[in-house]
Amino acid sequence: MLQLDGTGPRYQQIYRAFRSEILTRTLRPGERVPSTRVLANLLKVSRNTAVMAYEQLLAEGFLETRIGAAGTVVAPVLPSDSLYFSYSESLGRQQHTVRTNARLAGAGERMLKAARAVSSSLELPSLSWELTPSRIPYDFRPGRAAFADVPYALWCRLLGSRARRASMRDLDYGPPAGRWELREAIGARLRRLRGIDVGPERILIVNGTQQALDLISRILLNPDDRVLIEEPHYTGARCAFMSVGAELVRCAVDDNGIQIPKASTGKRPVRLAYVTPSHQFPTGVVLPIARRLELLDWASRTGAFIVEDDYDSEYRYDGPPLQALAGLDAEGRVIYVGTFSKILFPALRLGYLVLPKALVEPFAAAKATGDTGTAALEQLALADFISTGQFDRHLRRTNISNAARRRALVEAVRKEFGERAEVCGANAGLHLLVWLKGRSGGMIKDAHGKAEKAGVGLYTVDSFYLKPPKRTGVVLGYAPLREREIREGIHRLAAALT
Ligand SMILES: Cc1ncc(COP(=O)(O)O)c(C=O)c1O
Repeated sequence: MLQLDGTGPRYQQIYRAFRSEILTRTLRPGERVPSTRVLANLLKVSRNTAVMAYEQLLAEGFLETRIGAAGTVVAPVLPSDSLYFSYSESLGRQQHTVRTNARLAGAGERMLKAARAVSSSLELPSLSWELTPSRIPYDFRPGRAAFADVPYALWCRLLGSRARRASMRDLDYGPPAGRWELREAIGARLRRLRGIDVGPERILIVNGTQQALDLISRILLNPDDRVLIEEPHYTGARCAFMSVGAELVRCAVDDNGIQIPKASTGKRPVRLAYVTPSHQFPTGVVLPIARRLELLDWASRTGAFIVEDDYDSEYRYDGPPLQALAGLDAEGRVIYVGTFSKILFPALRLGYLVLPKALVEPFAAAKATGDTGTAALEQLALADFISTGQFDRHLRRTNISNAARRRALVEAVRKEFGERAEVCGANAGLHLLVWLKGRSGGMIKDAHGKAEKAGVGLYTVDSFYLKPPKRTGVVLGYAPLREREIREGIHRLAAALT
């Protein structure tokens, strides 16, 4: 008698019961099985259920039909007993105990090592941080969007409308570089607001900045190539460069942004420099025009590329957005990276690259090889969002609400920390840095636990350095919090740090 396990649809229970009987050789190769009618009667199931179970067993080769009198039989040609028994023993358990094929290639090892190092320095559970809902009510994690401000109803309408009228072309594989409509809309904005003279042909749509950084690393860097990185810096960039085995060259950031190195003499040349000129991550300082020109001149003399990560510069609180570094680039040395993660929300996974002409084809080829292109309907809905002027309206609104959050944060820091704190980089973006005076790096170590107990997510600046600084600072992201949550969070933080 067949033993049914009682879980899921009946036909699958019957299928599993037969499979187990065959694998354990209770049913022998070539042995006849009952007809579907008899089986249905025996098991008190419908004939159709029995037919569905047999169809699956036949399709997978456990059973065969014989023309003539024999009917349906267990497949007569089966692998050796030992193979069968080893499979039947592990059946249904799938514990993946065999480790031999977990040997990773060099690239896999490097990627894992870099990602683990970054998540441990941020004191986050290994690599799962974006999947665990925050249990912390006052979480100042930098890099998060103003979720409460997202125009969900409008977004649903635009997406729904694109989905409803999607043509066959919209549903087919799209161009790997991204939909023309979106690239045109982005180009028009960049020309109008950021001073970049670019059309759709040099724009490539990616799944956020992180994919852009990964493509840049894989296309332009060989193992041991030297990469200039701001110190402190965005850890997502560090991961991408380390994954391809690049040598990271730290470049200090002062009150005017990255200190431009002398053109290297003697040493191997730097292949590329990664910078956040409009709102340095995480210090928030702005790279002034003199340094921008110096940086371009350095790139021109060394032959290096510059990666301009322009992640949150649309949020500026004391004037219009700054012109991009890419707009000053006459030689084609700047690779500009933009994202919609901050203006809309990170789960959208939409960003773009503005590429020098010579890099357009290799990047499109890499994008095609990696994922054949980004999801099309979201691209089209976003193109509508931008070209109908809704995007600019949304940005004006969120600039106001984020400015209010920022004001609440700066006031709260001044009130709770007074002279002990120095606020840095508050006039743009969605986070700021607070240097804490008279505290050494070590003193803050146990503060994470204390802050967490008080319900506050604390992110110290040392995790954004390769070589931790002597000074102590905390990076405070404020966009997802309400003003009263910001005030309460800072009050609790000050108490936890005293
Ligand atoms: C410096 C910097 N660049 C880029 C991003 C955004 O990355 P993505 O577009 O992959 O969401 C962040 C997010 O925190 C960031 O801080």
